[in-house]
Amino acid sequence: MDTERIVIKDVQNPKDSELIKAAQILREGGLVAFPTETVYGLGGNALDEQAAKKIYRAKGRPSDNPLIAHISCMEELEPLVREIPKAGRILAERYWPGPLTMIFPKSSLVPYGTTGGLDTVAVRMPKDRVANRLIRLAGVPVAAPSANTSGRPSPTTADHVWQDLEGKIEMVVDGGPVGIGLESTIVDVSSPVPVILRPGAITQEMLGQVLGQISLDPAISGPGQEGLRPRAPGMKYKHYAPRAEMTLVEVKEETMEQLYRPGSFLHGQVSRMMTESGRNWKMKIEIFYMAWKVNEAAAQMEKTGARVGVICTEETMDEYTAGIKRSIGRRDSEVSVAHNLYGVLREFDDLGVDFIYAESFSETHLGNAIMNRLNKAAGYRILWV
Ligand code: TXA
Ligand code: MG
Repeated sequence: MDTERIVIKDVQNPKDSELIKAAQILREGGLVAFPTETVYGLGGNALDEQAAKKIYRAKGRPSDNPLIAHISCMEELEPLVREIPKAGRILAERYWPGPLTMIFPKSSLVPYGTTGGLDTVAVRMPKDRVANRLIRLAGVPVAAPSANTSGRPSPTTADHVWQDLEGKIEMVVDGGPVGIGLESTIVDVSSPVPVILRPGAITQEMLGQVLGQISLDPAISGPGQEGLRPRAPGMKYKHYAPRAEMTLVEVKEETMEQLYRPGSFLHGQVSRMMTESGRNWKMKIEIFYMAWKVNEAAAQMEKTGARVGVICTEETMDEYTAGIKRSIGRRDSEVSVAHNLYGVLREFDDLGVDFIYAESFSETHLGNAIMNRLNKAAGYRILWV
């Protein structure tokens, strides 16, 4: 199949003439990849089981993994769901359109082919102008998983989509790089206390503020106990896998305590950083130590002939002396880290590295989603130093 690529000239103001063909393809059961504010989506008519089948085939994804139905406005929600629980209304009011997906009891209109056999349906209303207008023009809800080959990092540019899906779908709508860079937050509002099934840019703290009570699916914070299955089937263990074996590096509390102690082997550095870095001195020491340990491990690996990648940040880049280093963003801007995360993983895939060491981040706010994706990419492999 020849895949057509349409480049949107002004993504803040897409013209209907630029999107009309894509909308028609969707309406007629074909597949179109398009930008959203989170990641690129691979769209098909959510009410057409055949379209869902095509999506699974193009991605190489198991068909028991349900798809998110994308809508453009509130009126489009009602036909898809049996009821809208109170929490769903509150969250829709506050965060739609936006990077939030909600799970509702599904209506009979939504085929099981879209929901992977479940009686619930995931719905999201994207804010991205191109996505929102495309869905409106299509006139049908648009089922869209991330537009990557199953198991590869989610695409944050049209080039990423092209690498994975060229020749397999009818069209790619190129709206430039996405804004956020991580998939939407998923909240199940069909249970009495809403549950976060996947962390994203609408953070637990933000949800707690409007809902009061919110819980976190225990299966998403780690591999956990045997048999603990995530309630979002797609959140299964090790999902966003880079080709290399990836390890997250974390500094132990007790290491930090030792480092502060007068006379410790890094004490000279510690005193220097305390004077140079003011309020941030603790963070500086932690990073310095982390880099030092990664240098050791990477140099060791390189001696055996392996190619080693290091995921670092603007602030720490200069501390690394071994491995191929790539900055994932600035430590003082979680937004920048989220934005670059998948792009960096893809770059290391392209470079053909065998091992990746990645710095870790705090797990609050957006850091929660960042660490969730990094942990999954690493298959929860952590080097404690
Ligand atoms: O940001 C996003 O959500 C992107 C863009 C394109 O909108 N889409 C996306 O879709 O990330 P996908 O298919 O890659 O991830 C959807 C996740 C999967 O983990 C899936 O298992 C879960 O949502 N999911 C979908 N329907 C569900 C349901 N009824 N119950 C529980 N989990 C569901
Ligand atoms: Mg995905």
